[in-house]
Amino acid sequence: MQPGGPGIPQCNARSPSLFTINTWLVCSLLANIFVAIIFPFCKRVPLRYQMKVKVIARNPDDYVRETKLDIQRVPRNYDPSLHPFEVSREYTRALNATKLERVFAKPFVASLDGHRDGVNCMAKHAKSLSTLLSGSCDGELKVWNLSKHECVRTLQAHEGFVRGMVVRYCGTSFFTVGDDKTIKQWKMESPGYGEEEEPINTILGKTVYTGLDHHQNDPVFATCGQQVDIWDEQRSSPIRSFTWGVDSFSSVHFNPVETELLASCASDRSIVLYDMRESTPLKKVIMTMRSNTLSWNPMEAYYFTCANEDYNLYTYDMRYLAKPIMVHMDHVSAVLDVDYAPTGKEFVSASFDKTIRIFAKDGGHSREVYHTKRMQHVICIKWSADNKYILSGSDEMNIRLWKANAAEKLGVLAPREREAANYSQKLKEKFQHHPQIRRIARHRHLPKTIYHQTKELRVMKEARRRKEKNVRKHSKPGSVPVVSEKEKHVVTVVK
Ligand SMILES: *[C@@H]1O[C@H](CO)[C@@H](O)[C@H](O)[C@H]1NC(C)=O
Ligand SMILES: *[C@@H]1O[C@H](CO)[C@@H](O)[C@H](O)[C@H]1NC(C)=O
Ligand SMILES: *[C@@H]1O[C@H](CO)[C@@H](O)[C@H](O)[C@H]1NC(C)=O
Repeated sequence: MQPGGPGIPQCNARSPSLFTINTWLVCSLLANIFVAIIFPFCKRVPLRYQMKVKVIARNPDDYVRETKLDIQRVPRNYDPSLHPFEVSREYTRALNATKLERVFAKPFVASLDGHRDGVNCMAKHAKSLSTLLSGSCDGELKVWNLSKHECVRTLQAHEGFVRGMVVRYCGTSFFTVGDDKTIKQWKMESPGYGEEEEPINTILGKTVYTGLDHHQNDPVFATCGQQVDIWDEQRSSPIRSFTWGVDSFSSVHFNPVETELLASCASDRSIVLYDMRESTPLKKVIMTMRSNTLSWNPMEAYYFTCANEDYNLYTYDMRYLAKPIMVHMDHVSAVLDVDYAPTGKEFVSASFDKTIRIFAKDGGHSREVYHTKRMQHVICIKWSADNKYILSGSDEMNIRLWKANAAEKLGVLAPREREAANYSQKLKEKFQHHPQIRRIARHRHLPKTIYHQTKELRVMKEARRRKEKNVRKHSKPGSVPVVSEKEKHVVTVVK
């Protein structure tokens, strides 16, 4: 409070001057007037004299533009009775959006070339999205920077094929196995200037290793070959070995959630499950044809999908191996590799028929097929950890980078662009079962050979089905039971 402010009597030791007394008088007069005249009106008016007045309330936030460049806001009434043609209008928009999606479906992003032999295996970095490792059939290993589409490091890892590779969970080193019967551990950093490119660790085994995987959070890894071995990183001999009367394994994979569990595919057409803490394998399922590899669902980790030689993929529930929960068909040749999306909702498969297909985890047929004229047998496939890209390594020495969602626009989207994409996505979902829209959305152009092979396979399958039906018709009732497609491919489960 300022001294001598209006209406405030100043506290003074000397006798008050005439001026301050005058001021004080005026103030008290004003106060009296306020109390006598204005104050009664300020009291609450009794309820019976109150009147309700409705006013139009306008919140400027609802109609004022934030900047001059914004579009004018138009108030809308969403009452459906005011929009009688909404559905037909939306249908037209959905049709338009579906057509545009097919027009803009350009999944191929880039090709990484540099290998001098077919790409045999790839590994994602555990921490860095832009790093990819690839190993080829001549033992060469390359580290790629995916954002620049270029190779940042090349080393001769093995003699003969690089059979498998995996990045340690911390991302500071990686392991490779090769045809020269060795397991090598390498540093992730490139060697400094003048330093030799040398592994940190080399283990010479007795037999050829064909696959390898690392534990999620322990310094333990597993290899497969003639048997499945569990290794401690500090030791040069396996801490555990599993065999089950089979001659060789093609791949081994740790479960991403139950981290002590692992599964492997064997050449006697079986898929074997192990618990690392036990000394014997848990159980196995024998199928009619050999599985090449498998991939665990990262979200529902009791499911895994295996890529089979009989052109199909099978999703199994680990707890119930008697029958796969889904058979995924569409490939027209052996399926060589499979990898799940980090969301666990979809997976991608690579096949000897020179195509890549994307399946929903519970979809019997693929939602997408990728191919190019130059791509040969696709040997390995990876789905990137940001769920946006797919990487495929093929026979003709190239690694290809694809979009996981073919029509997605890359780069930063403006808010309105994002809204528009969101809206058309919703429209497409809403009208997806309309025949016209479904036909357009499902249509894919296929290379002639694959198109004809698909047709041929369909005829063969139909013939088999017809024959079975006829046999059943002319046999004793019940002697030719109906076997479902899911049960057909499983021979037995052994515990
Ligand atoms: C279809 O989409 C295009 C491009 O967005 C647009 O120009 C056209 O007006 C749309 N047609 C209909 C019928 O909505
Ligand atoms: C790859 O290149 C980009 C662009 O130069 C860079 O920002 C990124 O750090 C690189 N990634 C790696 C893993 O070196
Ligand atoms: C898309 O629309 C839904 C529903 O209105 C909304 O919840 C979501 O945030 C939108 N997504 C984007 C990317 O705008």
